Amino acid sequence: MPEKAPESVITILLVDDSVPTRENIKKLLSFERDLKVVGMAGTGIEGIALARELKPDIIIMDINMPDMDGLEATTKIVDSAPSTGIIILSAQDDSNYMRRSMLAGAKAFLTKPSSPDEIYNTVRAVHKRAPVLQPSMGELNRPVDPTRTGAGHIVVVYSPQGGAGCTTIATNLAAGLMRDGVRVLLVDGNLQFGDVGVFLNLKPQSTILELVEDVEDLDTDYFENSLAAHNSGLKVLMGPQRPEEAEKAMVDPLVVSKIINKVRWNYDFIVVDTSLHLDEMTLSLFDIATRIVLVSTPTLASVKNIRSVLDLFDQLHYPHEKITMILNRVSKDPHIKKLLLSSEQISNFLKRKVEMSIPADDMVVLEAVRKGIPVVSSQRDRTKSPIKELLEFANFIYAALVPEPVEKAPSQPIKKVTSKLEWGRS
Ligand SMILES: Nc1ncnc2c1ncn2[C@@H]1O[C@H](COP(=O)(O)OP(=O)(O)O)[C@@H](O)[C@H]1O
Ligand SMILES: [Mg+2]
Repeated sequence: MPEKAPESVITILLVDDSVPTRENIKKLLSFERDLKVVGMAGTGIEGIALARELKPDIIIMDINMPDMDGLEATTKIVDSAPSTGIIILSAQDDSNYMRRSMLAGAKAFLTKPSSPDEIYNTVRAVHKRAPVLQPSMGELNRPVDPTRTGAGHIVVVYSPQGGAGCTTIATNLAAGLMRDGVRVLLVDGNLQFGDVGVFLNLKPQSTILELVEDVEDLDTDYFENSLAAHNSGLKVLMGPQRPEEAEKAMVDPLVVSKIINKVRWNYDFIVVDTSLHLDEMTLSLFDIATRIVLVSTPTLASVKNIRSVLDLFDQLHYPHEKITMILNRVSKDPHIKKLLLSSEQISNFLKRKVEMSIPADDMVVLEAVRKGIPVVSSQRDRTKSPIKELLEFANFIYAALVPEPVEKAPSQPIKKVTSKLEWGRS
């Protein structure tokens, strides 16, 4: 019979086909008073059965096991016991495994061997995550400065595929949302290899690293001083300058979400660029997002990855309207076009509307990057592709998030839109 644990104790089920590994982890966990192993299983199928019976807070799951692997078992447990947090402990330190684990519904990914502290901290963090990231975000939702109330929309731009144009879309969305009286902040949420600085030619005096220590009592002025300002007036919170510095910021995977929540009501829109890693940091950004923009390209590989991400969003019970699909790098060459998926095909396959297709135009996009300005403000002719589509997309997001006044106003001029926002606030 399983032993009963007192309530303040985190109950853990170990699923691993190697007996020595299980015994080792059990022993490690026994040193901590708040952690208790309540059961052990040697196969995926046994793991599912025990998860159902014991309803542990946490499962530490191996990937390679006889009968059913840990990823499949994870998917099944997430469906039947969604309150259990699953941590994958894999022998392979492979980002592909990590992504697949997260897509299966795991909350964290560790590689063997992990240090005792890594295991303890991860178990506690995953256990804590559920209540911390409820939509209300409780304490975290308190505005820094209650006298400044923006609309507080958080738009997270994500692509599971590198090079699809996540940073391009995020940067241009932020720039395209700017208008008189509307406060927009762009956050580089790709801490390790963020490109926002390159795209906008910004050399930051300070970055997110300066905020990490003070995140609990962040001061508005201090925060504003940590931002880089682009010539266009766009404010940017930059990531660390060097990849190895990212680790300092990522000690707390919720740090970017916490910062954003603190300053949220100082802005009307906070646009967040993300890395393709579905780690806890990116997941926490999804949780706090008002809207997630999913960027795909018209290739089979890209669309297949998007499909997995949409499955994940379903598992997280995100409402349909929280997600907007955008297709980038759509070739204008009819010969190439024939080899790629059409927007309709993608729509049918994903059962989701593709809100906008952005044409590929190397000249315009590269020229903008070279000049360090957003594509949407790089040329005078705003009817030219892909400027036109990028602006249309920003207007779409704006209209979708900012409530219309009672009498239906046609979608257009800057002045009118501004007053709409004021109206929404009063
Ligand atoms: N619509 C487009 N047409 C042409 N080139 C594009 C387009 N969108 C993005 N690019 C280019 O593709 C590369 C990858 O884009 P980026 O935004 O950095 O993608 P990600 O952030 O998803 O890795 C960049 O060199 C960018 O200039
Ligand atoms: Mg990028």
